[in-house]
Parts: sequence; C-alpha cells; structure tokens
Amino acid sequence: MAFRDRYTGLINRYRDHLPVNDDTPLISLGEGNTPLIRLKNIPRALGRDVDLYVKFEGLNPTGSFKDRGMTMAVTRAVDEGSKAIICASTGNTSASAAAYAARAGITAFVLIPEGKIAMGKLAQAMMYGATIMQIRGNFDAGMQLVKEVAEDAPVTIVNSVNPFRLQGQKTAAFEIIEELGRAPDYHCLPVGNAGNITAHWIGYCEYSRTKGEVVTRACSFCDGHCRYAGGPVVGDRPVMLGYQASGSAPFLRGGPVEDPDTVATAIRIGNPQSWQQAWHVKEESGGRFDELSDAEILHAQKMLTEHEGVFCEPASAASIGGAMRDIRNGTIPEGSTVVCTLTGNGLKDPDTAIDQCKDSGMVTIDADRAAVNDAIRNYL
Ligand code: F0G
Repeated sequence: MAFRDRYTGLINRYRDHLPVNDDTPLISLGEGNTPLIRLKNIPRALGRDVDLYVKFEGLNPTGSFKDRGMTMAVTRAVDEGSKAIICASTGNTSASAAAYAARAGITAFVLIPEGKIAMGKLAQAMMYGATIMQIRGNFDAGMQLVKEVAEDAPVTIVNSVNPFRLQGQKTAAFEIIEELGRAPDYHCLPVGNAGNITAHWIGYCEYSRTKGEVVTRACSFCDGHCRYAGGPVVGDRPVMLGYQASGSAPFLRGGPVEDPDTVATAIRIGNPQSWQQAWHVKEESGGRFDELSDAEILHAQKMLTEHEGVFCEPASAASIGGAMRDIRNGTIPEGSTVVCTLTGNGLKDPDTAIDQCKDSGMVTIDADRAAVNDAIRNYL
C-alpha cells in the first residue's frame, strides 16, 4: 500500500459525508475501519441458516464505538475555539473524551456515577488525564448536570446530544454497507442513551449500496449535514433491533426508569437522551426494542468469547444475545443477513469477566512437570 493510502481515521475516509472542510484540523487517533467478523460456531449451534456478523467496535483506539463520534465532536470543538469539553458517562464516553482531549491538548471534565463504572474505563480516564468527578448519583443525574453547567461554563458537551457525535458514529453503517455490498436485513444494537442506534440509522439512510451501485437517500435526521440531504429514497435498509438490559429498559417500560440497574454498567441508563429519535428509528425501520436479563447478557458474552474468540464487554453482548434469541425463535427468519454491533472491548470490565469465570478452568498447582501432566490428564 502506498504511503498516501495509509488509513488515517474515519473523517478522512468519509470527509465528503461529514461536516468538515478542507481546512478543518482533524483530531484523530485512527478510529473506525473495524472488522466485520462472520460468526461460524454460533449459527451452527443455533441450527439456523443465517449469515451472522459482529462489527467489533471494541477495536477502536480507546476500545469502544465512542471514538467514532468523539473524533468528530472534538475536531469541531477545537475548530470552534473550545478549550474544554465535558460529558457525563457510564465509562466509555469518558475514556474516549479524555483521550481525544489529550490528543488535542485541551481539558476534559467527566462526570461518572461513583462505584458504577468498569475498572478499565476508569483507568483510561485517569491515565489520559481527565478531571474526573465521581457523582453520588447515576448517569441520568450526571447528564442533567452537564447540560445545566454547559449553559454558562466555557465547556463543550461531547455527549451524544452534541450532533457531531452522531455524524461520526454513522460511519459504522457506511463501513458495513461497503463490506457486505449492501445493507444487512437486520441490525442489532445494545441501547442505553440511544445515540448509537440513531446514528446507525442516519448512516444507513444516507448511504447504501445495492447491486454494486451507490445509491443514497435522505432520512429525517440528515439536518443538512450530509451532502445527500434531500436526495432520493432508494435501496434497502435494515430492520433495527435495539436491546436493553431488563433493569434499565425504559423503552420496554414506556417511560423513564428511576433507579436503573444492570451488570452491563455501560447501559445503566433510565432516561435516554435520544428517546424520540430512537423511537422514530424503530418505527421507520419496522424494528423493535426488547430486553435481556443480566444472566442472558452474561451468557451471550461468554458464548461469543468461548465459541468465536471475540471478547466484548457485557453491554455489547446484549446485541448478540438478543439476536441469538430472535434467530432461535424465528423472529429473525432463516436466510437473513444479520449484523450485531459489539460496542466495547471485553478488557474494559475485567472484574465482571473474572467473576463470571471464577469456577471454571483455573487450577493452582506446584511448579513441576508431574503436576502439569496430572492437570492435562484431568482435562482430557
Ligand atoms: N455499549 C457500550 C459499551 C456503551 O458504552 C454504551 C453507551 C452503549 C452500548 C449504548 O449506546 O448510549 O448510544 O445507546 N455508553 C455511554 C457512555 C452512555 O457514557 O459511555 P447508546
């Protein structure tokens, strides 16, 4: 590959579809371009003929899909002269904001729920040098505070209420279409604050490729950001399926959840900021929201890790857990092409992983050959 073709991040890759111009200084860590992995063992175990893929967003620079939105939000914040960014976070947004602020040489303030964020994410925010405020309250309270403070403090909000975040995140849909040659029939995502499912729909609406030909269309969210806003509606789009954790499932309860709880701390959210937009996505795509128990989420996480070699964090596993259930019961019919977004890396939450595996596979033995041989014999 010639040097000039080197991959340098999603803004450069998709600049024609994003709100930047030729002079905008880009704040990038080479995000995007994540692998779309075709699963082999899970479809076989399900006994159903489906083409099942995972888009492993955990391989972004800070280990989650947030980097797609953050490169765009921080690029624009810096371009507009901002010296500080702020966010509320269940963990991943704070890690990503802290990293891109470090890259840009600006300050990051992050509000996180005390004791409820995974260790890997906390380590990241601390190492990247963010100013961390642990609040005695949950994500929803943090989000409310951030919106209030940003009204008069000289800080730019980089939660997904910042429209540039969704613009960056929509590029995941572009990559999927390019790789499959078309949109999948079903796209499954975990849903927390509901920005990512909205961003994917924007991406699918703006840009799809059918029969080898690029076709584009407008959607209700284009907002004039993309060059195709107002273009014709043609081509195919997936049915969007959003999965919430049962303890944090406002879309299933029909209203905000006061005291959300789940082992999948990333989606421990009771009052999603993109509620209206996500509901619209469900309606427009003919999709659905559904819920998974913590046990189902952890089971899906373990299955994917053990049977496919892909280690995602608990929240991410809601997508594959939901897809497996819907494939098994026929809600997703045979012959379908299905993409599940794995939003974050399993290494983000080592405590939950180790806790889940504490009864399996590890023995402590003397450091001698006979003991190793014994252990092998025991397992074969
Ligand atoms: N999966 C992971 C790993 C997440 O970190 C999040 C959100 C989601 C799914 C849900 O995405 O909010 O767009 O519906 N994390 C945010 C954070 C809230 O602060 O890191 P969403």
